[in-house]
Amino acid sequence: MMGNCRVCGSAISSFMSFGKMPIANAFLRPEDFSREYFFELAPAFCQTCEAFQIVEQPAPEMMFHSDYAFFSGTSRAMAEHFQRYAAAVRARHLNGPDPFVVEIGSNDGILIGNFAASGIRHLGVEPSANVAAVAKQKGINTLVRFFDAACAGQIADQHGKADAIVAANVICHIPDIDAVAAGAKRLLKPAGVFLFEEPYLGDMVQKTSYDQIYDEHVFIFSVGSVSRAFAKHGLEVVGAEPQPTHGGSMRYTLAPKGGRKADPSVARQLAVEAELGLGRAETYERFRANCERSRERLTELLHRLRREGKKVAGYGATSKSTTVLNYCGIGPDDIEFISDTTPLKQGKFTPGMHIPVRPPEVFHRAPPDYAVLFAWNHRDEIFAKEAEFSKHGKWICFVPEVGVVE
Ligand code: SAH
Ligand code: TYD
Ligand code: ZN
Repeated sequence: MMGNCRVCGSAISSFMSFGKMPIANAFLRPEDFSREYFFELAPAFCQTCEAFQIVEQPAPEMMFHSDYAFFSGTSRAMAEHFQRYAAAVRARHLNGPDPFVVEIGSNDGILIGNFAASGIRHLGVEPSANVAAVAKQKGINTLVRFFDAACAGQIADQHGKADAIVAANVICHIPDIDAVAAGAKRLLKPAGVFLFEEPYLGDMVQKTSYDQIYDEHVFIFSVGSVSRAFAKHGLEVVGAEPQPTHGGSMRYTLAPKGGRKADPSVARQLAVEAELGLGRAETYERFRANCERSRERLTELLHRLRREGKKVAGYGATSKSTTVLNYCGIGPDDIEFISDTTPLKQGKFTPGMHIPVRPPEVFHRAPPDYAVLFAWNHRDEIFAKEAEFSKHGKWICFVPEVGVVE
């Protein structure tokens, strides 16, 4: 599949295709099966600017709307992580009088809520009205719209410029990266900072966590590609801190050029990226081969369990699982149901492969012999709460390798 790089405009061509994919978070009812939307999920690596991206992405309004299925607050460990993130931003960057913090993609308020709770002037920007409503109910100031340059200008005019713009798992969702960069530049004070943390390309390549690639994740960032993308808007990467969340993320700190000195972490991480070969096409050829091998092993394992008459369920109806299920062709014959705590997903069916989603009570009442851990990024939290299941049932993981957890 061919296209143009969203960062530099060069021609790009995909190095593999995961085939036709539905919207990852569009859990649906049987009456909607016949009008399900599909697009081709094909990642590409830009030889010119090193941006890793999917060639085709559905329109943002098709993914983010008043019926958005992902609520950040479903993980306790993530809530704690965001508390620490907020505390670090506060300690390092909000020491002036009456600071103002803006969050892009604030969802149910899991991160910005920490600033609100401390009485700090704050504003979340969140286009998905249903998740934004949860934040508003908690008294968190939230603007229901997509962040872009115009939005940034209006916020600056109304509230003044920001000391910090924070974000998590959203900047890699926004196809118009120029709008984000221009908007951030417009909204920040000269001494302000823009922090965001997103799934990291280095982890994805090392762990074959190809399930990070789905419609919402238009980019999978690296320090190299982020530096290039934001430099033309006068923003410089001054910090890069690896995070354990979402299977391996990177927190980038950006500042208006000349505003701050780059931390040694930036050069250190660029050296790691050179070592990992993130700028070389062969790396992605190897990644493609690893994805194919992972698919083969997972389907073989599930087919064997089916022959043996084992009962298999899934755990966590994640967006990521949409890529795995559709790429591997895993349906309700292999996985009876997927357990998930999100009320909006329960009683519906997974996108594309139509596996029923059930509340955890169903999983506890009639535990399966095996559970495929689709929310593998929340493994510690889930293993701790499902200790009872682990006594009798077995977990199947597929990152970094496919296998039964012994
Ligand atoms: N920051 C939260 C939510 C991540 S999900 C967390 O880390 O858990 C991504 C969120 O970004 C969704 O709630 C989605 O509605 C929102 N989003 C998507 N595009 C956006 C844009 N252009 N501006 C602001 N938010 C956006
Ligand atoms: P997550 O892996 O955070 O995100 P993504 O959709 O980006 O891949 O999704 C976690 C999903 O797993 C969410 O639907 C809630 C569900 N979940 C459970 O069912 N039980 C749990 O204990 C946790 C932590 C999550
Ligand atoms: Zn490019």
